[in-house]
Amino acid sequence: MNDVVVCDLQGDVAVLRIQNPPVNALSQAVRQGLMDGIVWAEQKARAVLIVGSGRTFIAGADISEFGKPPRDPWLPEVCNRIEASPIPVVASLHGTALGGGLEVALAAHYRIAVPAAKVGLPEVNLGILPGAGGTQRLPRLTGAEAALEMITSGRHVPAAEARTLGIIDEIADGEPEAIGLTYARQLIEQGHGPRPVSKMASPAPVDFDAWHDKALKAGKGQIAPATAVRAVQAAGELPFAEGLARERELFSGLMASPQREGLIHAFFAERAVAKLPELKEVAARPVGTVGVIGGGTMGAGIAASALLSGLTVALVERDDAAVEKARGTVETLLGTAVKRGKLGEPAFAEIKAQRFTVVTDFAALANADLVIEAVFEDMEVKREVFRQLDPVAKPGAILATNTSYLDVNEIAAVTARPADVIGLHFFSPAHVMKLLEIVVADATAPEVVATGFTLAKRLGKVAVRAGVCDGFIGNRILSTYRAAADHMVLDGASPYQIDRALVAFGFAMGPFAVSDLAGLDIGYATRKRKAATRDPRERVPSYADRLYEMGRYGQKTGRGYYLYSEGRRAGIEDPEVEAIIAAERDALGITPRDFTDEEIQRRYMTAMVNEGARVVEEGIARRPLDVDVTLLYGYGFPRWRGGPMKWADMVGLNDLLRDIEAFAKDDAFFWQAAPLLRRLADDGRTFDELNKQAKV
Ligand code: 3HC
Ligand code: NAI
Repeated sequence: MNDVVVCDLQGDVAVLRIQNPPVNALSQAVRQGLMDGIVWAEQKARAVLIVGSGRTFIAGADISEFGKPPRDPWLPEVCNRIEASPIPVVASLHGTALGGGLEVALAAHYRIAVPAAKVGLPEVNLGILPGAGGTQRLPRLTGAEAALEMITSGRHVPAAEARTLGIIDEIADGEPEAIGLTYARQLIEQGHGPRPVSKMASPAPVDFDAWHDKALKAGKGQIAPATAVRAVQAAGELPFAEGLARERELFSGLMASPQREGLIHAFFAERAVAKLPELKEVAARPVGTVGVIGGGTMGAGIAASALLSGLTVALVERDDAAVEKARGTVETLLGTAVKRGKLGEPAFAEIKAQRFTVVTDFAALANADLVIEAVFEDMEVKREVFRQLDPVAKPGAILATNTSYLDVNEIAAVTARPADVIGLHFFSPAHVMKLLEIVVADATAPEVVATGFTLAKRLGKVAVRAGVCDGFIGNRILSTYRAAADHMVLDGASPYQIDRALVAFGFAMGPFAVSDLAGLDIGYATRKRKAATRDPRERVPSYADRLYEMGRYGQKTGRGYYLYSEGRRAGIEDPEVEAIIAAERDALGITPRDFTDEEIQRRYMTAMVNEGARVVEEGIARRPLDVDVTLLYGYGFPRWRGGPMKWADMVGLNDLLRDIEAFAKDDAFFWQAAPLLRRLADDGRTFDELNKQAKV
């Protein structure tokens, strides 16, 4: 009935075809088109078919409209109008029917799908709940348990399972419109009329309180899944119209929440990171074979990640013993993937027989399209490896380093092809963690950068472009907020209180538990490396040196900040550590003071944002959103807060600046406001305005 919902008559059946690329989101025009289309269809036809054109049925409400004033007609009204039609309405699904898309399908009277279609109500991932009848109609079809599972997890359910659950009536191969028409005609011939889900019996009640508490706990601070349980509960306890009203009330509450704003920021930010103006029209180089140098923690994980994505891998280690060890590590990682159903036994056998070699000879790298170095974090060792690699690698091969902190320009300089050299900074464990920092050095060619992004996609990772500096985006910011945590310990906070306060904020782990995981020897080595150039005003966590000297390296030695016992991942607090820290404060002449959890969170976050602002201003991160995505995917930042820069916008940059000025009274060297933060605060602007201004 307009450009985006095209209506035509196919014999007795009126077809409403949604054409709103790329994913047929339910914008105002689509909602209006469906409303008008259904009225038109009722005058002309004996049945209605709703179908999406292009790659999918409907991916849901138009997320870009959220947070703006709502425009008529609302989706719940559209769904109710579809359901109220006196002639049968069929939805034919392909691609994904998600969120409002599935709600439109549930408002139709019959649903058919192609075998590859998926359905789901993923609204909780955006901080909301299904708001167009999904929480009321789905449980009437599937029962409460299945609906609760789908709605609280946001899982995409394959067509076959959706049919078993009662969501889909038929599955058929073919074009969505063709199978939908055949089905609609069948229904007419067999005299089937409308079959509104709202008239079906309410689902039998279950233990909704238990579901609510479980969702609250699993949400780790995120409220949408638990709130969604209450909406499904209404389907079990109230008549349909009242249930819908309850759903609307709960939906509106979530729509107004900062969590919704944070999660939607994350959704768009993770798609924006790959949009770089200099890569438009730049073709990536093909990558089929990957070389990996060094098969330790990172090299083995990188090799496993590449193998699991169908690439061929040649791994080079130092000596025969290291070769066997690396092979064993990679095969163990793949074996776990087999156990978890992520890799089939035949594919595992094929990898071992054909796609994976481990040797000591660099000549094995001659065929690699891209080589990733993951040897010790030592500039001389890395430069030597690149000197050896340069004459062996074929022309056009990309030479990458996985360094955490070192200068990629210096590494590139030992080769005759600096344009082909790039940093590909994976996170540990490399086959699991989703972040890949793509470190662009001075001479790196655009197609080499483009290849990095393509490789990330192939590996199922989210790639963020970073510039060269000590630690790039993530580790540089980490060094700063980690220092803020250390300063608080020096001044009187216990590491355990800090960890608890930050887990309560929403972090996956606190910084001291993270240190135990990474190894206290790493921090010790970094402090040693930086000692010679350290500004005398910088406060150093000397208590951490004491722990190191006692052999408390963290999980690997069974003792670090926490004590670890066999078979238990979580550590227990150790009074001895508190005593060591107290003695160190004494030695330094510090009188300890108390910190509230709120102050801990505030100092930690402010340090993070302030360094984030510097990283953006220096061009190490292109936009604030690149910092957000880095922290979300590499550092356990709570997604529902959107990322540190989004958090800062929501708290208010002026407030943060005031905090920095107050903190500076104790430590003026550490707490210097980043010029960008100060400018934005003075002008009453936000980081998000910089995101929106960035050229794409
Ligand atoms: N609204 C607006 N834009 C959307 C969108 C939506 N619901 N879903 C996807 N897009 C945009 C993306 O931003 C992207 O835009 P870009 O090309 O400019 O970056 C483009 O569509 C393609 O998306 P993807 O890159 O994500 O494509 P994929 O093929 O990888 O994935 C998808 C497709 C599985 C549909 C994925 O986009 C997705 O999960 N979308 C969100 C689905 C969702 O959460 N739906 C629920 C919405 S809330 C709702 O319906 C409320 C209702 O209950 C009232
Ligand atoms: P590791 O010590 O576990 O592994 C290094 C491996 O390189 C060893 O197996 C060693 O035998 C091998 N090696 C050393 N010199 C070699 C050479 N000349 N030729 C072939 N192999 C050689 O170290 P890890 O942790 O895997 O780190 C590797 C790199 O990845 C470092 O640059 C590190 O900074 C970086 N990194 C580490 C992360 C981590 O969490 N461990 C995270 C991200 C990056």
